[in-house]
Amino acid sequence: MSISRYIVFSNAHRAQITLASGAPSLARGPEAVNSRRARLAAAMAGKFDAASAARLEKIYAAPEIAEQRARTRAVLAARPGERGLDIGCGPGFLACELAGEVGPSGRIIATDSSPDMLAAVRERVRREGVGGRVEPVLSDAAALAFRDASFDFAVAVQVYLYVPDVEGALAGAARVLRPAGRLVIVDTDWGSCVWLTSDPARHQRVIEARMGDFAQPHLPPRLPGLLRKAGLHVSHAEAIPVLNVRYDPDSFSVGIIGPTKESAIRQGLPQAEAEAWAADLKARTGDGDYFFSVNRFLFVARKPTPSP
Ligand SMILES: C[S@@+](CC[C@H](N)C(=O)[O-])C[C@H]1O[C@@H](n2cnc3c(N)ncnc32)[C@H](O)[C@@H]1O
Repeated sequence: MSISRYIVFSNAHRAQITLASGAPSLARGPEAVNSRRARLAAAMAGKFDAASAARLEKIYAAPEIAEQRARTRAVLAARPGERGLDIGCGPGFLACELAGEVGPSGRIIATDSSPDMLAAVRERVRREGVGGRVEPVLSDAAALAFRDASFDFAVAVQVYLYVPDVEGALAGAARVLRPAGRLVIVDTDWGSCVWLTSDPARHQRVIEARMGDFAQPHLPPRLPGLLRKAGLHVSHAEAIPVLNVRYDPDSFSVGIIGPTKESAIRQGLPQAEAEAWAADLKARTGDGDYFFSVNRFLFVARKPTPSP
């Protein structure tokens, strides 16, 4: 089945999608790949710290991201009593929401490689009164330390784009699923980003530099093949556009202006250029002055049941 035949658009977020021309180019060849992996591992270590957790608390409270979680939960369809794994759980929004669905007899193991994110999860669990249902565990997505076939479902939202060994991570997720267990992945192809700016060439340089911070900036088109390789069967896929058509300080896109600017500077873009890019966007407060869209892609993959 071709992917285009089973992609459907969320009714809440129907949008005209324009692919950015001149998608960012990545270094090629084994040496370039190795040095890129080493840079990424070093950068990742300090990236998801307490400040980042506080920032995600705000950005992921945006209504469009809450809606993305609602869509994710709808396709996951967690049932009371199930045991689920949230891979790269961040500050724990989804883990705590899923705790309500699996109920008191179920369990969500919320994993992340950042101790600061897990501290934010503990705080959220306490605030939301779901202690006993959500268990925060420090774990790398590419080295899951859980027993084979020990989860009814696993979910990984906006995580695999940061994971250099994504094939190993998918194999690990498949391993810990029970037969018929499902894996739901939501990830972004940053080539689908459309952002209205006054200087498209400068904008392209910022986005290209920002891509350098991601291990997998264009993962979604490869996911059906990678999931198949991991022994899973893709049963559903859809696009979830994140769309902002006016400047709103509480929106997802306005929330990522600062982190995008900082990331581009870390990746070597001149500070003055990154600052000018951010200042342009932040001045777009008038009616009709602001437009942002990026596609999330959601996949449901199932572990086959052994034939009798
Ligand atoms: C953009 S946040 C997404 C958080 C959460 N899944 C959500 O959608 O709300 C990415 C998260 O992935 C985590 N992460 C990055 N690389 C990871 C890895 N190799 N293993 C586990 N977690 C990782 C980060 O610490 C961060 O919490």
